[in-house]
Amino acid sequence: EKIHNAIFKNATDASIVVAHEIATLIQTKQKESKNCVLGLATGSSPVKVYEELVRMHKEEGLSFHNVITFNLDEYYPMTKENNQSYHYFMHEHLFNHIDIKPENINIPDGTVAIDEINQYCIDYEMSIKTVGGLDFQLLGIGRTGHIGFNEPGSHVNSGTRIITLDHVTRSDASSAFNGISNVPKKAITMGVSTVLKSKRIVLLAWGENKADVITTTIQGEISSDIPATFLQNHNNTTFILDVFAASQL
Ligand code: GLP
Repeated sequence: EKIHNAIFKNATDASIVVAHEIATLIQTKQKESKNCVLGLATGSSPVKVYEELVRMHKEEGLSFHNVITFNLDEYYPMTKENNQSYHYFMHEHLFNHIDIKPENINIPDGTVAIDEINQYCIDYEMSIKTVGGLDFQLLGIGRTGHIGFNEPGSHVNSGTRIITLDHVTRSDASSAFNGISNVPKKAITMGVSTVLKSKRIVLLAWGENKADVITTTIQGEISSDIPATFLQNHNNTTFILDVFAASQL
């Protein structure tokens, strides 16, 4: 088992540690005059990490001028202005508050025409490759065992693509959308292989709701039934958990 776990008393303490790892990576790359390529996640889990990064920017002068970001996923179809879009989320929680260059922000576009999506996904994958691959990938986990929106059935070799959302995922999102019928049926997501190519992966999980899926992910058999189990094959992944998410390990 190559996954390392770090268990914290609460999400706040844990998020500060993760934000500091990211900040150190950014600064190390700055000293080498290199870009720092970050894969970013949405959902409630990473919110406090972004909060701490914003604080470090404002109070400690942490600069993001050398940072290039790629978000994991976006609902489809979805406009950027919609307050449930991941585009909106990322600007609200991070990008509007730091000095990242707008041209260095990459988020899958939920407005691409359906017949252009395949090419769009190939290009997204290629843009990651062109800048040297992901140095660091931040992940949350869905109750279906998805990472990004790689729902059960996702292949270990899958790349960026359009997928159909699992019913459990749509029902978890239904309150934010005021009813399941308003939750988009599809999404664009980086693939399992896109994520696994990252040099470093940190997955966050908080609360007892995640305890079952965390146990299966770390201790279960590797299978596309729980795509997060593929992380067991990655050699530099850490699961950052609070005591509740870790309670069944
Ligand atoms: C969504 C996102 C995932 C995220 C998951 C868990 O499905 N596409 O990237 O990990 O929700 O969300 P939360 O962090 O709110 O539990």
